[in-house]
Amino acid sequence: MDFFQYRDGALFAEDVPMARIAQEVGTPVYIYSRATFERHARVFAEALSGLPKKPHIAFAVKSNPNLAVLSLLSKQGYGADVVSGGEMARALAAGVPAEDIVFSGVGKSAKELVAGLEAQIGQFNIESEEEGVELAQIAAERGELARCALRVNPDIDAGTHEKISTGKKDNKFGVPIDQAVAIYARLAALPGLEMRGLAVHIGSQLGDLAPLEMAFLKLGELLAEVRAGGDTVTHIDLGGGLGVPYKKGEEMPSPAQYGAMVQRVTANWDVTLMFEPGRVIAGNAGVLLTQVVRVKRNANRDPFVIVDAAMNDLARPALYGAWHDFDAVEPNGARMVANIVGPICETGDTFATAREIDAVATGDLAVFRTAGAYGATMASSYNSRGFVAEVMVDGDQFEVVADRILPEAITAAERVPAFLKDS
Ligand code: LLP
Repeated sequence: MDFFQYRDGALFAEDVPMARIAQEVGTPVYIYSRATFERHARVFAEALSGLPKKPHIAFAVKSNPNLAVLSLLSKQGYGADVVSGGEMARALAAGVPAEDIVFSGVGKSAKELVAGLEAQIGQFNIESEEEGVELAQIAAERGELARCALRVNPDIDAGTHEKISTGKKDNKFGVPIDQAVAIYARLAALPGLEMRGLAVHIGSQLGDLAPLEMAFLKLGELLAEVRAGGDTVTHIDLGGGLGVPYKKGEEMPSPAQYGAMVQRVTANWDVTLMFEPGRVIAGNAGVLLTQVVRVKRNANRDPFVIVDAAMNDLARPALYGAWHDFDAVEPNGARMVANIVGPICETGDTFATAREIDAVATGDLAVFRTAGAYGATMASSYNSRGFVAEVMVDGDQFEVVADRILPEAITAAERVPAFLKDS
């Protein structure tokens, strides 16, 4: 459920008409709803409230790293799952306590490991024995102990888009599950590391709980083996991955169903469970507001609705063939079949093909829905288009929470070298 609803024929973000934001901030613009974020955070936490030990929920910062979003979720008791020094710095800047930060990621540099230790983050999710050995050495030299979980690759097909599957043995993530007991034991013996847990994350936008359940069952078996070997496991990180509906009427497993499954599968684990949800919190808490530049009619084809947003602003359709619902801000009741495209000079800059949509014309406003996760954060400045602004709405007020970055600002960071000027 979200708070982007029609009132008297016009689309609102909470109590603010979309048209007002377009007028004051311009388009394209990402719009986030505070109430929706809070609702999603609450629903997800409530779904896990029956667990024997209070779980640790860390928002996957990669899905929406905006400082306002991180600050809002921190106030809801969420920690942060980060995958780079940049994300860690953001989480800290937004007020997330260091001990609630989990540092994941397959390629943490030595510099990032040091930064994590310096900040005294809560947990490193180690993705290889090599990384563990390196972290152990750095921590030991500093006379510190790094709290760690070992991420395992359970070799399970998450049944999602191949580019966002992470739990198959061919993927780069985690250590092979059949080597995990031995690697855990070797890492646990190193000075500098406090091995305390196991972690798994098999993919994103999962529409079926079965692969998750299978991964968790495998992790349960591994937990028993690690303990049988004499090592300690007090924390298990079950990652993120829960899918969200992108199409009107699409059904997805609910957080409550997910929570019930987790509770059933982990009943005897006697650990603190950790979670890293991203999309399920952020996805439907944001939309991308755009304006129709013009409608172009080619012979014998559905018209092209050219909008001012493009693949550089919202990359998911071009990258994964992803669907985002498209709704006019003030629909006139008529419908049309159209191809929705951006202005970028690539055929891949296509948001929808032969789709039935609200009839729109030049100057009309429309939104791409479910753009709160993996939207603004995946933007680029391709075609020298700059970066779009982000706005957060709270009831009848809103604020710009990320300035529009104009192409001129990007060009200002570039220079022509002296050797070109001289010759
Ligand atoms: N934890 C780890 C270790 C992850 O790799 C991810 C996402 C998450 C948590 C959060 O997953 P979520 O709950 O959001 O599914 N750009 C793609 C999604 C990439 C997801 C990468 N990892 C997209 O736009 O669909």
